[in-house]
Amino acid sequence: MYQKSSMFIMILTLLAVATTFPSSVQSQSTRVGFYSSSCPRAESIVTETVQKHFKSSPSIAAGLLRMHFHDCFVQGCDASVLLNGENTEKTAVPNLGLRGWEVIDDAKTQLEAACPGVVSCADILALAARDSVFLTKGINWNVPTGRFDGRVSLGSEAKNLPGPRDSIDVQKTKFQTFGLNTQDLVTLVGGHTIGTSACQFFRYRLYNFTTTGNSADPTINPSFLPQLRTLCPQDGDAAKRVDLDTGSAALFDATFFKNLEDGRGILESDQKLWTDASTKSFVQQFLGVRGLQALNFNIEFGRSMVKMSNIGLKSAANGEIRRICFAIN
Ligand code: HEM
Repeated sequence: MYQKSSMFIMILTLLAVATTFPSSVQSQSTRVGFYSSSCPRAESIVTETVQKHFKSSPSIAAGLLRMHFHDCFVQGCDASVLLNGENTEKTAVPNLGLRGWEVIDDAKTQLEAACPGVVSCADILALAARDSVFLTKGINWNVPTGRFDGRVSLGSEAKNLPGPRDSIDVQKTKFQTFGLNTQDLVTLVGGHTIGTSACQFFRYRLYNFTTTGNSADPTINPSFLPQLRTLCPQDGDAAKRVDLDTGSAALFDATFFKNLEDGRGILESDQKLWTDASTKSFVQQFLGVRGLQALNFNIEFGRSMVKMSNIGLKSAANGEIRRICFAIN
């Protein structure tokens, strides 16, 4: 009887896991301190390298956080985004604005000198994202490590990445595919509390938003519109960069959500987190709106990042520890 019921519970558990995570999502596990005996200085080497680059170029923090996200959503967190070559992920349109490649390269060179063939590029990306958040005065969380680097990188798969014109339903679906729920979506998009966007990704909101007239997106605060139009003139430089979190772009804090409440979101996809009821309630929780259970943005961000960082992990069977991050062994 005991055996029968425990078997039943096991089957239920397996079913629950299978429905929560598609088979491609989790195949290998990671753990905190994976390198503590094989390469004890692994994490501090990454941290010191990120610190060094951040000192001369603070905007690198946002670049590294975004790079990890773009890695995880295509082929899982396996450093496939780093691979050079024709038609690799790196060459796909959504990845053209990524930055921070030299930081990963620098860290890998030092790690190979300290412990050759031990630390994966996928782990460097996950650690560098964490360090970037901490350097911008956000939370510091434990990153489970032990990822393998992938051998496949296809530019065509970058379509999995969410786009700035995606509806909330599309955004939710894209996140759900990887076992990330609506709260994770709102929390992780909160990563836009640091960094910038090129005018090309939101300028349409300022001028020809509706097909019926020469008007702006009505969800933009009317007092904010002239400011945005000055930053991104109609026929100006499409590559010009604008802070995603107006007034606090260098700090990892919850003001991004306050800006959404005030109609000061930059990307259409960001502002929609406030207009859609299912995501708005999480934004309100981060803002501590009375009557709702308050959520601490930084704490939740660390939690959701650990989930995101475990997407689609490779194993020894379909992965490797690259010797250099930009080419397979
Ligand atoms: C619906 C989901 C998302 C959409 C549509 C989206 C879209 C974008 C776009 C269009 C940009 C500007 C890119 C450029 O100008 O080159 C951007 C920047 C950025 N994104 Fe996202 N993003 C999403 C989710 C995320 C997530 C989950 C993270 C991190 C956890 C993230 C982190 C960043 C950062 C830090 C930047 C600034 C990059 C820099 O300054 O170099 N984004 N995002």
